[in-house]
Amino acid sequence: MPRPSSSGAVRGPGTSVHADDDVEASIARAVTALSAGDVVAFPTETVYGLGADARNASAVARIFRMKGRPLDHPVIVHLATPAALTRWARPTADALRLVGAFWPGPLTLILPRADGVLDAVTGGQSTVGLRCPDHPVALRLLQACAAVGIDGVAAPSANRFGHVSPTTAAHVRGEFGAALLILEGGAAMVGIESTIVDLSGSAPRILRPGMIGAAAIEAVLARPLSTGTDPAPRVSGSLAAHYAPLRPLELVSAATLKSRLAESRHGVGGVAVLAYSPTASVAAGTHWLAMPAEPDAYARVLYARLREADQLDVARILVEVPPDDIGWLALHDRLRRAAAGSGGTHGADARERD
Ligand code: TXA
Ligand code: MG
Repeated sequence: MPRPSSSGAVRGPGTSVHADDDVEASIARAVTALSAGDVVAFPTETVYGLGADARNASAVARIFRMKGRPLDHPVIVHLATPAALTRWARPTADALRLVGAFWPGPLTLILPRADGVLDAVTGGQSTVGLRCPDHPVALRLLQACAAVGIDGVAAPSANRFGHVSPTTAAHVRGEFGAALLILEGGAAMVGIESTIVDLSGSAPRILRPGMIGAAAIEAVLARPLSTGTDPAPRVSGSLAAHYAPLRPLELVSAATLKSRLAESRHGVGGVAVLAYSPTASVAAGTHWLAMPAEPDAYARVLYARLREADQLDVARILVEVPPDDIGWLALHDRLRRAAAGSGGTHGADARERD
């Protein structure tokens, strides 16, 4: 996976530093904050995370307060090395295979939790979500944390509950303001949240699709994933309304898009369009945000484009439905949720937003 060229630095009150020489000092500042039970934001290859010492219940509670997220939602624990897994969970043979193939990387494993893992992290469940991220700044932070005894950093995506996940430090600042310590790590290279695989049941299954697809996972496990319908553990990302912009978002086919744009010439309010098909002409009042026609590149820019569209003076956002192809599965998932939760029409159940 390509790595960001930015080496990373801390941004917080009164600071804005980028030079390589400052990176270690920046990481040290973040470790000091985490040791004191504070919250810091850091980059990962998927989206930015809002992190706290996963062994400190009041620090973890602080993340939930900042996000406005219900306290019984589980959070992913981020590890410095694959070997740290055994401190947090009872690994299965499947887990070791997947760790060997995909860590560090955008894959979260749900496993039976080890003794001593906080309920604040697991949401009171008997399982824990674990991930070793593939980002140089995240890994450096996690290693520096491990060196002072913080052997896992609990981190959900660094957005307020129900908002689009952040893929740049600026997005995080937009969510939480300048007072939060944010490690700078450039734009996230994957761009959507990790694939979550549940290994705690009788057969492995995907709880949240991501850019590591089912076929790659099945190839490593040498067996098919379960498509069964046992009651799912609580994964708010698996419910309908999620990752949502504030303006109404509609998913439309290329043909519908064309006719809607013809209509909108006579309608009121502008429209933002996220489309991967080329267009010949764009009418006044239409903001055309061209999307890549390849899924990895599309994922990398999707959340930034949704935020951009949300900030335009438009009545709605029209998104051209991606191709009906397995490589686009996780993107269909995120776009469906974005449509379901957009325009302030989130479901009444607060659990549906992360
Ligand atoms: O890519 C990612 O996974 C990002 C980066 C920051 O690592 N994190 C992320 O965290 O997306 P969050 O909290 O926004 O979403 C994590 C999802 C939630 O839907 C949560 O319910 C689920 O993981 N989860 C965490 N622990 C779980 C567990 N023990 N059982 C079931 N689901 C769990
Ligand atoms: Mg989230």
